[in-house]
Amino acid sequence: MTSIAKGIARIGPQYRKINRNIGAIFESTFLQRDASVFADINANRDDLTMLEKFARYPLTFGPTPIEKLERLSKHLGGNVEVYAKREDCNSGLAYGGNKLRKLEYIIPDAIASNADTLVSIGGVQSNHTRMIAAVAAKIGMKCRLVQEAWVPHEDAVYDRVGNIMLSRIMGADVRLVDDGFDIGIRKSWEEAIEEVKAAGGKPYAIPAGASVHKYGGLGYVGFAEEVRKQEAELGFKFDYIVVCTVTGSTHAGMLVGFAADGRARKVIGIDASFTPAQTKAQVLSIAQNTAKLVELGKDLVADDVVLIEDYAYPAYGVPSEETKEAIRLTARLEAMITDPVYEGKSMQGLIDLTQKGYFEKGAKILYAHLGGAPALNGYGYAFRNG
Ligand SMILES: Cc1ncc(COP(=O)(O)O)c(C=O)c1O
Repeated sequence: MTSIAKGIARIGPQYRKINRNIGAIFESTFLQRDASVFADINANRDDLTMLEKFARYPLTFGPTPIEKLERLSKHLGGNVEVYAKREDCNSGLAYGGNKLRKLEYIIPDAIASNADTLVSIGGVQSNHTRMIAAVAAKIGMKCRLVQEAWVPHEDAVYDRVGNIMLSRIMGADVRLVDDGFDIGIRKSWEEAIEEVKAAGGKPYAIPAGASVHKYGGLGYVGFAEEVRKQEAELGFKFDYIVVCTVTGSTHAGMLVGFAADGRARKVIGIDASFTPAQTKAQVLSIAQNTAKLVELGKDLVADDVVLIEDYAYPAYGVPSEETKEAIRLTARLEAMITDPVYEGKSMQGLIDLTQKGYFEKGAKILYAHLGGAPALNGYGYAFRNG
């Protein structure tokens, strides 16, 4: 019996049947070449206890490193200690990032559905669609991507470089659509699903950010469990977790995971959508759905969603002067690269909140670096002078 089959044998009875099917497919088709590699990676995830009963398709290297940002902490006055959990370095698949944690719990369902095409959606420089293209390539499926015009951009090559270029290189069928920003379920995506069907394909639909999917919140429950284990090794606990929030399932999964030890409200979401009411509602509904799935045994309410709205201006995907300053500062002090759409805004929030005294003296803050650097290629004009 391979380690994958052993892993499948360990899960709860209600999931055995579906997992037997998934296991058979894993071993017969997709994992033929890679079974030993995946089995090894899988072996080190016994720490994910809230997720034990869910099938997981390994797409990441394993636990991500936590790094102290010494020079940034000192620069901010030395009253708080800033650490980064490097989700941006989580995989060898096309530069990685937060979507892979989510997809680890979605892909088994895609495989079990007998789909042959992953269909998803995002903006032109979406990191999420890059990750869908990467996973499709890795598991041997086709990929159809809808890239909407979510961002008013300055660079002439915006739709030729960075994420979208990588998706094209990985073989995805990339189609540009004129509709503007919206984190909800989109008509263009539903049409793409129908088109794949009409052409005789078997689509598996993954919504924007892999968020409004029944398993979209699970991956970041695992993040919280991983942090708890790392805290035990470090010998201290983080007082705050700072996370960039847009489509919501990263924040939502963390809420559920950290609610288990009473820290739901210590997860500080920094909105980058510029439509915070919709984002906040989406975080809550994903968190409540995920809490049921993992049998959290606690109710999550609107006040558990801490979402700070002050840094998303002037629009989704458009960096303010302050966001650009935060990107430069983090790069110059720590060589940690953040992007103008997401992480630059959450870093700006972390810096500003620290300077305003939001975090008490001595607080240990964990900044979740969720990836996104490839989008920088679409912002050459903003950084033409560094
Ligand atoms: C780099 C990066 N950071 C943050 C986010 C926000 O995560 P979520 O959409 O789960 O709220 C995303 C995706 O939308 C992202 O690609």
